[in-house]
Formats: sequence, C-alpha cells, structure tokens
Amino acid sequence: MNIAHDVKDLSLAPAGRLRIEWADRAMPVLRQIRDRFAQEKPLRGIRIAACLHVTTETGNLMRTLVAGGAEATVCASNPLSTQDDVAAALVSEYGVPTFAIKGEDHETYYRHLSAALESHPQITMDDGADLVTMVFSKRQDLIPDVIGGTEETTTGVIRLKSMEANGVLKYPIVAVNDAQTKHLFDNRYGTGQSTVDGIIRATNILMSGARIVVCGYGWCGRGVALRARGLGARVIVVEVDHIKALEAVMDGYDVMPIGEAAKVADVFVTLTGNKNVIRKEHYRAMKDGAIICNSGHFNVELDIPGLESLSVAQRQIRPFVREYRLANGRALFLLGEGRLINLAAAEGHPAAVMDMSFANQALACEFLVRNARSLEKRVHGVPASVDQEIARLKLASMGIQIDAMTDEQVEYQSSWQEGT
Ligand code: ADE
Repeated sequence: MNIAHDVKDLSLAPAGRLRIEWADRAMPVLRQIRDRFAQEKPLRGIRIAACLHVTTETGNLMRTLVAGGAEATVCASNPLSTQDDVAAALVSEYGVPTFAIKGEDHETYYRHLSAALESHPQITMDDGADLVTMVFSKRQDLIPDVIGGTEETTTGVIRLKSMEANGVLKYPIVAVNDAQTKHLFDNRYGTGQSTVDGIIRATNILMSGARIVVCGYGWCGRGVALRARGLGARVIVVEVDHIKALEAVMDGYDVMPIGEAAKVADVFVTLTGNKNVIRKEHYRAMKDGAIICNSGHFNVELDIPGLESLSVAQRQIRPFVREYRLANGRALFLLGEGRLINLAAAEGHPAAVMDMSFANQALACEFLVRNARSLEKRVHGVPASVDQEIARLKLASMGIQIDAMTDEQVEYQSSWQEGT
C-alpha cells in the first residue's frame, strides 16, 4: 500500500465501502456534480487537504473531488468523530491518503493535521478552522501555494472572521456554512436529528416527558429543540441573545437562565459556539442522574475540568456514558467526553442533508480554482447562483416541482407604481 495513511485497521475497508455506497444513494446532488466533474475535470491536479469528520458522507465528497481531478488528502476534524471503516475504505478502496482514528489522543490529532499538510495543499478544506490555523501559525511556508480555503461550520467561520478582522487571514476563504442550502438544512435538520439520535444511542433514555435544556438557539439549537419536542420532551431554551430568546418563547419553549434550568432538567445539550456554558455552579445544582452533552463544534462548551474537580469518583457506565459522582452524593452523566454527541455516539448528520453541504464544498472548490486569484483575502459567501442551483437540484431529485412567476408577476415585483 503506497497511499500515505494512519487509520485503525485496513481490513475494515470493504465494510466501509458498502456504507459509503449506501450513503451515496441519498446524495443525488453530489452525485450529479461528481458525474460532471468526471467529464470536465475542473480540479485537475489541484492538491486539496481536507480536515473533516471522516464519515460515509465525507467519503462521497472525497470521491467527488478525486473525480474532478484533485489530489485529495483527508484528516479528522475531531478526535472522536471518525468512522474507522470509512477511513480504511478511503485508503484501500478509493486511494485517498487518510489520517484519522476514532478516539485518537490530542497529540495524534495534531500529528494527523500535520500529515495532511505534507501534501502541500493548494486548497484547505476545514470543519472548525484547525487546519488553516495550523497553516497560519506553524506552516507559513505553505501559504504561497495556497489559492484559498473553504470552511464548513459556524464555529470555523467565526474564527476565520476574527482572523480577517485581525489582519492574519492570508488567503481567501469560502464560508460554505453561510450558504442557505447548508445552514438552514444541515445545521437545523441534520444537527436536530443526529443530536437526538446520539443521545438516544448512548443512553436509550425515553425522550417523552424528559425535561431537556438546549443551550443556544441558533440553527443547530432550533433543530434540536424541534426534534426533542417532536419526541415528547419538555424543552427549555437557554440564550444570551434577546431576539433569539424571544423567538424561542414564541416558538413555544420555556426560556430561562442556565442557573434555573440546571435545577430542574434531566438532559442538557450545549450548541452555542462559546465556552464554559455549563460550569461548576450548574453541576452542583443539577438533579441526581442528570445527563450532560455537547453538540457544538468544540467540547469547551462544557467546563469538563470543573466537573472532574467536583467529582469524588468516576466510572464508565457504557460506551459514551461516564458517571461523575459528586460530594453531595448525586451522580451526573457526561456523554461522549463532551465531544459532538451526534458524531461521537451516532453517525453525524444523515446523508440526505450532507448532500447539500458537500455539494456546496465541491462547488466552492471549483469556484476557488476559477476565481481565487481575483478574490480578496477575506471570508466570502458561496455565490447565490450556486446556492439556488443546489436547491433546484435537490428539489428535482425529490421529484418536487415548483411554480415560476408569470411575466406579469415579474413586472409587478420590479415596479413601485401599482398600489391597491
Ligand atoms: N458533520 C455533521 N455530520 C456530518 C457527517 N455525517 N459527515 C461529515 N461531517 C458532518
């Protein structure tokens, strides 16, 4: 095997291939792009280093980039999200250099990022901005070759905008997250379903009647609140933004500070993009048996060192469920080490929604190859025409037709003279 790699076990590759093909059935938009890429080769010879969750859906994105002529390398964007069979299949079935092992430690995680950068990428593809951060801090020698990067997630876009504001962004970035066909669907319906899926797979709790606290009412939090309510949970929203809090109230949820919610709830989920949202004083107030998890990009949303320091005993109850016994005698249960619970304990967002996210990624790479030299070193949106086209293709793949405006309606909309 002369494909560079560090994966758990290459013998898992055939199983990984079957699961990648299964996911592909639900990714018709990406598939169409892959078919066109195979004909036109818009990424011919372009070196792409991707730092993504290594899942079946990412497997199909890698296939698409390779079909387009790219030399793609992939490493994990989270220590706990890798699907080891997919990582194996990427290496042995699809010839993609892959550096990802589920459960890898901190040192291995960063060694894998470094390994991906050894491909001397012309495009960096991030989910959380760790790769680009490593380029700007430790591998500035690579910058002259890079034409641009893409970013998948809200947290990464926030980091990149901060780099732009601080004058340290050294090449243009396409914020895939900001496409409407990404965040309105992936963040809301993808995170909504897969987070609830992760909590249930880890614990097998009954959602019906449970009091669940959703910290953060962005698109991801809305999705979790919606799906938890759909299963009969009693949802409490915790927010710091007045408008979002008001929306949550009018969407029919209880809204209160975390200090109040801590006393009454059974399950806690953080999706804020911020740090130390649940802290020592909140753990102390929680009921015996409270379940705590995070579905935001980084595990810093939970003060885990604080929880460790409060606990007098710990044990692993079942996979992804760790019990922390507090001095007050109560037991709290942390899921998936506070890592993204939807990817740690479940399989991440379903393929049907990643179809649109990764269609945006593939088309963003094509856009960068065509336009990067003329783009400012800023964070750019996905072109609106690309966003519309992805929605059109998705609807068509679902067999759904929509109306078009009549000429009279087009004219009416562009005129101001006509009133009542
Ligand atoms: N982020 C959330 N779900 C994902 C998935 N299934 N694949 C890749 N990235 C993801």
